[in-house]
Amino acid sequence: MKCSKCGGRAVINMRQHRLRLCAEHFVEWFLAFAQRTIERYEMFAPTDKVLVAVSGGKDSLALWDVLLRLNYRAEGMYIGLGIDEGLGYSDKSLDMCRLFVRKHHPDAVLNIVDVEGEYGQAIPELARTHRRGQGKPCAVCGLVKRHIMNRIARDGGFAAIATGHNMDDEVAVLMQNTLHWQTGYLARQAPVLVERDGMARKVKPFVRFYERESAAYALVQGIDYIYDECPFAKGSTTNLYKELLNQLELNSTGAKQQFYLHFLSAREKGEVTFVETEPGQLQPCTRCSQPTTAGNLCAFCRLWE
Ligand code: AMP
Ligand code: FES
Ligand code: ZN
Ligand code: ZN
Repeated sequence: MKCSKCGGRAVINMRQHRLRLCAEHFVEWFLAFAQRTIERYEMFAPTDKVLVAVSGGKDSLALWDVLLRLNYRAEGMYIGLGIDEGLGYSDKSLDMCRLFVRKHHPDAVLNIVDVEGEYGQAIPELARTHRRGQGKPCAVCGLVKRHIMNRIARDGGFAAIATGHNMDDEVAVLMQNTLHWQTGYLARQAPVLVERDGMARKVKPFVRFYERESAAYALVQGIDYIYDECPFAKGSTTNLYKELLNQLELNSTGAKQQFYLHFLSAREKGEVTFVETEPGQLQPCTRCSQPTTAGNLCAFCRLWE
């Protein structure tokens, strides 16, 4: 298999782009495509401070690497969730983030928030206390992550929070939202969520990459990452949809990309319209001052009551 640019040995074949590239040209292409995506969706400006949410996984570490190489002012933020499950999941994830800084970008700033250290309870414990989510802490975890990301972004004067979501993640969510006709979610699913009512701007610079491409980027750049996914994500519907979509992609090259991009463009052109669910009257939480519809205390602060 030969590189489409130089005829050297290709390390990846991206059928949906009709492109085979050697390691050197793949890195060059990957950086340029990430930059084009940031500009195309007007994610942030060259002088903006960006907060990269890093989980220790391939996507978010690759994203941080890319933003630093593109000379963005990107700081990392790791949230210690205290998930162990006999795997040392959270400890290993933090180790990977630290190793990444040491090995690849020794001057980069990594902000660390340890949930148990700062608030008194780790996620699995907290979820048990509240008996939310049928034994799975994912809902509580999502709420806590959103709150902390927002707090760090606001306090640190960051223009945006960047997450490592790739196209496979987005397409799986799109499929889920479509199968259930969750029109409120379909109205909001996008590469950029604008800042609103005290909620920080959120961007996904990897939405145009398939998961295998961000994995290949991490591999080629020698970025070590945690291979395990969160032990609570096993058997999730998102994973089922990802498998189904990959099967589809095998038989129909570019199917994932088409599904996602046609959704975005149809909505952009007004060919389809989804009505957003009104958030209701927002007011600042009396304890943390983040916006809430839930009365005096926001859902996050009520967790710790
Ligand atoms: P996930 O929901 O686990 O697929 O993660 C989606 C994105 O959220 C990742 O690409 C990261 O950008 C971010 N993220 C997930 N877990 C953490 C964490 N513990 N600390 C900081 N960011 C995270
Ligand atoms: Fe939060 Fe799995 S429950 S990452
Ligand atoms: Zn080449
Ligand atoms: Zn609050």
